Amino acid sequence: MKDFSRLFKYALPYFPGLLASIVLMAVVGLSQGLLLKLIPFIFNRVLDPKSPDAPAKLFEIPHTGFTLYLNDFFPSQIHNIWTMVAVGIIVCYLAKGLCDYFGNYLVNWVGVNAVMDLRQDVFDRVLHQDAKFFEDQPTGRLMSSIMNDIDRVQVSISSMLADWMRQAFTALFLLLVLVTTNWKLSLISLLVFPVVAFLTIRLGKRIRSTTRHAQDMAAGLNEILQETLTGHQVVKSFGAEDFESKRFRLAAQRLKTGTLRYVAHQSIASPVIEFFGALTIVGLLWLGRQQVKHTTMTAGDFTEFVLALLFLYEPIKRLTNIHNIFQQGLGAAMRVFGYMDNHPDVVDKPNAERLARFSKSIRFSNVSFCYPNATSRLVLDNINLEVNVGEVVALVGPSGAGKTTLVNLVPRFYDAVNGAVEIDGKDIRGIRLDSLRENISIVAQDTFLFNSSIFDNIAYGRPDAKREEVISAARTALAEEFIERLPDGYDTVIGERGLKLSGGQRQRLAIARALLKNAPILILDEATSHLDTESERLVQDALTALMQKRTVLVIAHRLSTIRQASKIVVVEGGRIVETGTHEKLLASCGVYHRLYELQHADVIAG
Ligand SMILES: Nc1ncnc2c1ncn2[C@@H]1O[C@H](COP(=O)(O)OP(=O)(O)OP(=O)(O)O)[C@@H](O)[C@H]1O
Ligand SMILES: [Mg+2]
Repeated sequence: MKDFSRLFKYALPYFPGLLASIVLMAVVGLSQGLLLKLIPFIFNRVLDPKSPDAPAKLFEIPHTGFTLYLNDFFPSQIHNIWTMVAVGIIVCYLAKGLCDYFGNYLVNWVGVNAVMDLRQDVFDRVLHQDAKFFEDQPTGRLMSSIMNDIDRVQVSISSMLADWMRQAFTALFLLLVLVTTNWKLSLISLLVFPVVAFLTIRLGKRIRSTTRHAQDMAAGLNEILQETLTGHQVVKSFGAEDFESKRFRLAAQRLKTGTLRYVAHQSIASPVIEFFGALTIVGLLWLGRQQVKHTTMTAGDFTEFVLALLFLYEPIKRLTNIHNIFQQGLGAAMRVFGYMDNHPDVVDKPNAERLARFSKSIRFSNVSFCYPNATSRLVLDNINLEVNVGEVVALVGPSGAGKTTLVNLVPRFYDAVNGAVEIDGKDIRGIRLDSLRENISIVAQDTFLFNSSIFDNIAYGRPDAKREEVISAARTALAEEFIERLPDGYDTVIGERGLKLSGGQRQRLAIARALLKNAPILILDEATSHLDTESERLVQDALTALMQKRTVLVIAHRLSTIRQASKIVVVEGGRIVETGTHEKLLASCGVYHRLYELQHADVIAG
């Protein structure tokens, strides 16, 4: 019920539409009831030429003296029963059709709007999740949820509301017809309904869980799909097509089983209800025969009654079906709400302050850190480090030492477990995230570019940037020359993750992007791979340009970067083991000396 009211909240802003459609659907039900009320006239009067031309009584409300005649809807000149019935049928169907159309449209309008809001909410919530969330949730799964689960919610909201209202009102008016025709027979025939209701509810619960299961399987399939598509080169280079195909087939089989199980549950409702219907009708026919025989009821009335009952089974059957679809939607909604309820750890504190432009220092005091889901091993152990404004601090150390982790604490991708990172004397956990990140440009170890134009990629952090600024950033990043050689220049679309560019070109674009953002703090995680000497030099020069007049934390692999550093910090096993200038560290013959010798050997060998 909690999930339902939460879902309903999304429909609330569109309440007028909902209200109008309720009215329209009520008219649909009413028309259906009135149509049935015309049936006795057809059998008793229209088809019987000898019948007297008396007023056509539709129904009376007992003990009030109120009686409604068909004649009440017509001017007094028209009293021919055939004309009245003919006009009645046409008007009822017209009203029913029009109201059904507009009611249906309106309900779907409400549903589609509500679901759009929901999807946006989910997307926004997911965007604000922290790094841990994305490490835990595979992309394919998240995508499946945001698309398929919400689609299912949408189908269930729209079809549930539209059809539910249509059927509920129809059932209501048919029930009225039944009761006003013969309340004793009605009571008997409605005895089966509690049984039907009980079965429906039991079944609904089961359907909800099987749907969730099927949706999970679909998400699993999507995960494999997403992984193999983005990693297609690795798949091919390892000849893993068969392996992936098998993995996909297994997941698809699980989805198939899940779906079939759900279909089995879903389709059982209708036949069960129909069977109960058949039992009731046989019983009724027997009773009706007695009543007609003893002339307590006309054949026309009895036909009306049985037809109304038959018609009533349809909405009831549909209502159980809708109930099932709705249970599916609720199952999907639960998962979506699950994502929304995940509270990220890295968030603004209620009284967080804005950070003005960075002006003094970044300080790590006794910082320890371990990854949230990893074993308790400390990745960073008691780090103390100060970076003053204008300094270039180089971090060096073996792979896996914790360098990337260390710099990731500055923009608060993660929070320190112990100790604190301070900027300008303020603990960054008390600074508003947006103002903190405004002050930081990052060129990460593996660059991520978007599948849009070069221009948009460079201007990503500053969508308002002028064309000259973008071009100037590209020039400083030494990217201008290759951009101008591209067929559409700055408007060239560079493919997913920038696939249509070389590794060095991607890096220079990332540098241009960081240059344009022009933040005072620069975090640079130099990538060592896939660069030849020529582009290495270009990237290096671009980096030098980027580091001008900035405070830089650079994870350095290149000797030239290291030489530019005002201070070198050697990290090993999550600890700072040495600090000093290049010359001083070399002279002390420690870890740095060893690393330097290794690299130097590489350079000479290369
Ligand atoms: N998201 C993560 N979850 C759990 N453990 C992680 C995560 N990222 C890194 N680690 C672990 O933390 C340790 C430090 O990783 P980090 O990326 O900081 O190393 P690094 O010094 O940057 O290495 P490299 O020079 O290879 O980039 C490694 O042992 C790694 O396995
Ligand atoms: Mg790293």
